[in-house]
Amino acid sequence: MTATDEVTRSGLPTAIVVGAGGLGMAVARRLAQTHHIVLADIDAALAARQAAALIEEGGEATAFPCDVTSETSVAALGQLVRGRGGFRSLVHVAGLSIAAGNFAAIVNVNLRGPALVARELLPLAGPGICAVLIASMAAHLSSADGTAAEILSDPTHADLASRLAAHLGPQGATPSAAYALSKIGLLKYARASASDWGRRGARIVSLSPGMIATPMGKGAYAESPNKARMFARSPLGREGAMHEIADAVEFLVSDRASFISGTDLLVDGGLSAALTYT
Ligand SMILES: NC(=O)c1ccc[n+]([C@@H]2O[C@H](COP(=O)([O-])OP(=O)(O)OC[C@H]3O[C@@H](n4cnc5c(N)ncnc54)[C@H](O)[C@@H]3O)[C@@H](O)[C@H]2O)c1
Repeated sequence: MTATDEVTRSGLPTAIVVGAGGLGMAVARRLAQTHHIVLADIDAALAARQAAALIEEGGEATAFPCDVTSETSVAALGQLVRGRGGFRSLVHVAGLSIAAGNFAAIVNVNLRGPALVARELLPLAGPGICAVLIASMAAHLSSADGTAAEILSDPTHADLASRLAAHLGPQGATPSAAYALSKIGLLKYARASASDWGRRGARIVSLSPGMIATPMGKGAYAESPNKARMFARSPLGREGAMHEIADAVEFLVSDRASFISGTDLLVDGGLSAALTYT
């Protein structure tokens, strides 16, 4: 794999944004104010197009085709970042919604992928560096039983998805279970990794968006009538905007969040609280 669209003008620190879709681009646009963006996505054409858009807007960007579920592909991303002299921020946004419909694919992209990426980049982490893993409010609305939790605690395992599927059985291994469990696993991973990142003076956190107005979010309405019912109970009576997630990410990777690690930031307009307490 090769990097494309390499442009370096100012020696800005590198931010790796994995996922060039709706939310990924909102984050990339914001971090491009202060970083050179390495924009990674399995869709090479999309990554190239979106990196070109960032450059067109005055930013610096490098597109990189990367399948986060492939250890070889993730190692190539690590190689690129090593070649750039390391990184300042990592935001793993790529993920599949329930609409993807495939249990193993959802588990692998949403959990094994970010865990592989974080594991690959950890040796390059140092003081002031932060990794943000984009999870979901879904992680706050369900739970994993003891066996599932144990399986989730080893998220880079090559058989992660099949182990979970075997535990849940054919009735339980649904796309929505895959989504919720993968995001629960991501929150656990950020907590469990805080010590490893902390030893290097670096931080790792997860961020759980609620209902955000994105193309992916729109699709999920069609897939799930439950989503419309949930929306009706939203305390603020609206979906979140992508810039509100970018705001939270910008804060988390900044030095203003220098004592925040091993935790999750829920950015859902209070919806999880409303669903739990009212
Ligand atoms: N939109 C919402 O309301 C909402 C709410 C909660 C959480 N989220 C989370 O936000 C994240 C992204 O949302 P989005 O709106 O940007 O989605 P999106 O569908 O626009 O973008 C996802 C991107 O991930 C990429 N991708 C898929 N598989 C990949 C792989 N194996 N390797 C690398 N890249 C891969 C896709 O090509 C796509 O560009 C997801 O993790 C999702 O679970 C979204």
